[in-house]
Amino acid sequence: MLEYLLTILLGFISVLLLYSFCGRRRKDGEPPLIKGWIPFLGKALEFRKNSQEFLTRLQKKHGDDFTVLIAGRYITFIMNPLQYPSVIKHGKQLDFHTFSDSAASRTFDYPPIRSGHFPGLSDQIQRSYTLLQGPALDPLTFSMMGNLQKVLRQLFLSGDEADDHWQQAELYKFCKSAMFQSTFKTLYGHSPHLDLDQLREDFEKFDDMFPLLMARIPIGLLGKTKEIREKLIRFFYPQRMMEWTAPCKFVQTRTALFQDYDTLQDRDKAAHHFAMLWASVGNTIPAAFWCLYHLISCPEALAAVREEITNVLGEKNMQLIFKEDITITRQQLEQMVYLESSVNESLRLYSVSMNIRVVQEDFCLRLDGQRSINLRKDDIIALYPQSTHLDPEIYKEPKRFQFDRFVKDGKEKTDFYKSGQKVRYYRMPFGSGATQCPGRFFAMNELKQFVCVTLLMCEMQLLDGQQEASMDNSRAGLGILPPANPIPFKYKTRKTLDCTDREE
Ligand code: HEM
Ligand SMILES: *[C@@H]1O[C@H](CO)[C@@H](O)[C@H](O)[C@H]1NC(C)=O
Repeated sequence: MLEYLLTILLGFISVLLLYSFCGRRRKDGEPPLIKGWIPFLGKALEFRKNSQEFLTRLQKKHGDDFTVLIAGRYITFIMNPLQYPSVIKHGKQLDFHTFSDSAASRTFDYPPIRSGHFPGLSDQIQRSYTLLQGPALDPLTFSMMGNLQKVLRQLFLSGDEADDHWQQAELYKFCKSAMFQSTFKTLYGHSPHLDLDQLREDFEKFDDMFPLLMARIPIGLLGKTKEIREKLIRFFYPQRMMEWTAPCKFVQTRTALFQDYDTLQDRDKAAHHFAMLWASVGNTIPAAFWCLYHLISCPEALAAVREEITNVLGEKNMQLIFKEDITITRQQLEQMVYLESSVNESLRLYSVSMNIRVVQEDFCLRLDGQRSINLRKDDIIALYPQSTHLDPEIYKEPKRFQFDRFVKDGKEKTDFYKSGQKVRYYRMPFGSGATQCPGRFFAMNELKQFVCVTLLMCEMQLLDGQQEASMDNSRAGLGILPPANPIPFKYKTRKTLDCTDREE
């Protein structure tokens, strides 16, 4: 037995020695290299535990740019936002899609789009994204408004209690039901036979495993995840989707597009639709939570946003909301600058998305006037916007939610400074450059609509002595962090509030 253990130990030591002699070494002109002592894994564990802290520590020690071994990959972090523009403008040598295509196809289980089996598909998918933007946003906004009001009316009025009592619920659960259902219906359409609560539960189970899947842990090792993913994919089979009424133009176009490819199986098409569901609700739900949470935690912010909503919509329009659908147009949403600033402030505080680019050829990247670094083909370049979002030089008291941080003289504030220079990329929850999130305009609108309709329909308060919401850091690197603890709140529909207001 002892002999056996010794052999293992010796084996382990020789791997370590081999690794330290033969592993990658820093060459001239390359950024400092941090490998850790564990082969392959490198610094993966420290990175996962608290990326923000870990990277800030490395930045203090090694400067603004360094390369870290994380789970078999050499990732070069560019930490100074003043250097972001040079990364973003090298779209050709630093490509986003090589990474996203392979990660997405592995996670959602469809064949890589760029594998050569589907000529033109990737370009057509990119083109379909215009249907989430510009003029296409008007019908989406209209449809979302209708769905939100139906869903929220049902959530608020379904309680047994009489309307004029305070009722209690949990805030994240509330945001999840409301945003999931409304977004699903707006994008994919409706059918009386769909069980969206069940879909959401499965979705959440899958989503919990998402960080592990992205870290390339084989799905077979993750309990029932594979089964659940299969069920989620099956939800979107073409014959089922055909029965849903009023899907948006974007989903219709994608469905028709997939139909054109004989090389795509029905299951592959379904997996693509499932991936889009993930993209469309995965980040919007936590973002909705943080925005609403901070507004109801801060009386000053709530009053300012309420007043803005009243000013834009008019008192009369608002009192109708329990009787009939009201409309809030895209133009009206644009006028709500305090609300927009509150949404952006939530995205600033809780977005931890890394921006990843794969180096296409060995080359020398000029970062600014003085500095340039050599990069190797297939290495990964990462921007880590969270460190910019929490930089005390750019944002005073960076950890504090300040609802009007992005407003100056009644208009959007866009000047933020670091080392005396104006920072161009001071807030980037949606990625950067050509690969920015194509759903960002729709997402911003949805979030504003959700807050508007919720505040119009009810009065909300946190419970006395409620613990503050903290973030669940286990998803570092991916999207908007969810809250770690439950936040109970009480609410009272404004149907009755409005009546009492009038009696007084
Ligand atoms: C607050 C909400 C959202 C956030 C924070 C967010 C963030 C992101 C980020 C960081 C990326 C990667 C971009 C990059 O690395 O350059 C991305 C990609 C994407 N997002 Fe969003 N997103 C949100 C909402 C949405 C919505 C509502 C939709 C669709 C309706 C959507 C659709 C997509 C798609 C399709 C991609 C992949 C684009 C590509 O591969 O070219 N997102 N999003
Ligand atoms: C909020 O963020 C969006 C998306 O990044 C941007 O288009 C908009 O101008 C911002 N508005 C404010 C008030 O910060």
